[in-house]
Amino acid sequence: MSHPGQAHLPERHQTNTGAVIRITTVAAFGGLLFGYDSAVINGAVSSIQSTFDVGPGPLGFAVAAALLGAAVGAFFGSRIADRTGRIPVMKIAALLFLLSAIGCALTQSIEWLVFWRVIGGIGVGVASVIAPAYIAEVAPAHLRGRLGSLQQMGIVLGIFLSLLIDALLANWAGGAAQELWFGLAAWRWMFLIMAVPAVGYGVGAFMIPESPRYLVSAGRPDEARAVLSRIHGDEAVDSRVAKIESTVNNERKPRFADLRGSLAGLKPVVWVGIGLAALQQFVGINVIFYYSNVLWESVGFKESDSFTISVATSVVNVLVTIVAIFLVDRVGRRPLLLVGSTGMTVSLAVLAIVFATANKVMVDGQLTPDLGPVAGPLALIAANLFVVFFGVSWGPLMWVLLGEMFPNHIRGAALAVAGAVQWIANWGVTVSFPSLSNYSLGLTYGIYAFFALVSLVFTVKMVRETNNVELEDMRA
Ligand code: GLC
Repeated sequence: MSHPGQAHLPERHQTNTGAVIRITTVAAFGGLLFGYDSAVINGAVSSIQSTFDVGPGPLGFAVAAALLGAAVGAFFGSRIADRTGRIPVMKIAALLFLLSAIGCALTQSIEWLVFWRVIGGIGVGVASVIAPAYIAEVAPAHLRGRLGSLQQMGIVLGIFLSLLIDALLANWAGGAAQELWFGLAAWRWMFLIMAVPAVGYGVGAFMIPESPRYLVSAGRPDEARAVLSRIHGDEAVDSRVAKIESTVNNERKPRFADLRGSLAGLKPVVWVGIGLAALQQFVGINVIFYYSNVLWESVGFKESDSFTISVATSVVNVLVTIVAIFLVDRVGRRPLLLVGSTGMTVSLAVLAIVFATANKVMVDGQLTPDLGPVAGPLALIAANLFVVFFGVSWGPLMWVLLGEMFPNHIRGAALAVAGAVQWIANWGVTVSFPSLSNYSLGLTYGIYAFFALVSLVFTVKMVRETNNVELEDMRA
């Protein structure tokens, strides 16, 4: 990547900010579905277990299968978007979400439930990579961080909503396994409700323009001009198109071969993308979201308190995303990542120490840390500080960077690889947590703290500032 040069400083005055925000919000809606879909299972899981009479082991695996579906979705979604455009791929994702919502709600067997979860997972994967690419490609450079962070806003709102809706529905029905409306149990409604935002996302995709960078690469410069003037006003549209033309190869579609380079077979920038994607997950953020009830109950909090803690944590995550949106284009990506990594390392290390030094008691035949009146609140504060530091940095910025850091002609292929790595890493952390934490919560959080430290070194050594750099000026 290049550093911003004076000559390339983008014009700030011409942008039609209202139109850009409307367009990006639709793409960021994919994030809301991503967040809702990945967290909704929490409230349904024990009812699924009793309804279909499955053991916790196979069930856990079935739940995590959706994450592998997401890896597949991220990989192919990006590639298809290079061939057909960004908008058709959003429509496909919306359809996958809709089918999955209905399928999960009506399923009569665990096998079909897994099938429909994987379909939804593919939708999540597709949405996860199409939003960063599309938003980066339509956003003016000086707003790109903020607009890109709207995807994360969608994700964290989706997580919060699913938690809330799960709780409300279970409450109304008198338990998630109880019948609610039209003969369907509450847990089935938890999935079915996702049909509403899925339709919204699909309809939205019909109303927003195709990405101008894609249009140029597809040999449709006139349409690109029209979109660019809608976003930037008429100024400099021709020179923008000419500049984009110089960075894409409209003779043929991008290929994986374009990722080849000098560093262990790949271009260094592709490795940076892979590193960002894997490290964002290796710090263990989703353990907080997927397992928080289990965690807080296991260390001595009451069930109702654990639920309150989970809701509070997801609200914290929403609030810090607002802070990130405010800061990202003002202070740049690197400073935020550096502060985030440092804070995550410290807060995770505190968690590791608290769990490792706590008294252990027997709970259900397991030696479990029993946090006393000091260590309990300390662990809670540390866990929420971890969410604060993640949410202001790596949470939104990994997605922003994946959308903007690659040169135009390799964006799709590089996002396919990094996006898939991100979901495989998420899967690895999620499936390893139950046995790791059974062995030692102290060690588990120690490992996450180690990766947070690695993320700090990685940022110092590998990540270049992309703030205010035009996509056409990104170098591999
Ligand atoms: C990021 C991560 C996602 C996580 C979310 C939580 O979007 O990619 O896995 O659930 O942040 O804030």
